[in-house]
Amino acid sequence: MSTLDLPFYVRPMRLTDIPAVIAIEHTAFSLPWPESAYRHEITRNELAHYYVLCFRDPLASSKLNPLSFWRRIRRTFTQATEPPSEVVLGYAGFWMMVDEAHISTLAIRKDVRGYGLGEFLLLNVLEEARRLGAQVATLEVRVSNTVARSLYTKYGFRETGRRVGYYHDNNEDALIMTTPVFTVGNYWQMIDAHRAALRARLTQQLQSGWRVGPIGSRGGHNQKTAT
Ligand SMILES: CC(C)(COP(=O)(O)OP(=O)(O)OC[C@H]1O[C@@H](n2cnc3c(N)ncnc32)[C@H](O)[C@@H]1OP(=O)(O)O)[C@@H](O)C(=O)NCCC(=O)NCCS
Repeated sequence: MSTLDLPFYVRPMRLTDIPAVIAIEHTAFSLPWPESAYRHEITRNELAHYYVLCFRDPLASSKLNPLSFWRRIRRTFTQATEPPSEVVLGYAGFWMMVDEAHISTLAIRKDVRGYGLGEFLLLNVLEEARRLGAQVATLEVRVSNTVARSLYTKYGFRETGRRVGYYHDNNEDALIMTTPVFTVGNYWQMIDAHRAALRARLTQQLQSGWRVGPIGSRGGHNQKTAT
């Protein structure tokens, strides 16, 4: 999704993102991955593609912020570190298995859920998977995770199987959900329509005063639904 007029964007995950990712992970999943898993995915797993969803406050950018010149001068002389203007709001990853993108994880910071950002992230992941040659996307989701199931259903995922007792914390089943083949029928036209609607929604939210806070999420627990 072009981000020319939105302060949100998706970029590849870096090792330096892992602390922010882990902070979200612990509020999003009851079986959180350890830091080492993300480190492995980024540095060792050639099939893996991981991304972070970021927010950059337009007022903090150097062109728009009149204080930034003096901040730069101060940093030069004091070597003080600036608070980062980029904030990680979510992350997702997939494994490219031949022509199938297997989405391994997807989460949004708890205090900014329900504003279309999970959709924004999924949309970008699907676009990236297609760009890398995927024909379909698939994933596992907990049967009880109605929010995620609803998001996936909106993006054309349909139940294609079930793994009984897949999650070892409560023996819950996983649903396998899979998209139609990207190039068949009007699947991508549907994605294009969602993209346009989402852009309008995010723009409208920002215009009506919705702002993203800089700090992390406020505790609480959901559940990790992917492997
Ligand atoms: C699942 C998750 C990523 C969704 O992100 P989000 O930013 O809250 O979702 P969005 O605001 O983008 O909503 C997108 C869609 O999700 C569904 N959804 C979002 N909130 C919902 C709610 N409270 N109840 C039901 N469906 C909901 C809807 O289908 C919604 O589309 P709509 O706005 O047209 O109704 C987020 O809730 C999360 O991080 N959950 C914890 C981790 C997790 O379960 N990940 C999934 C792993 S398989």
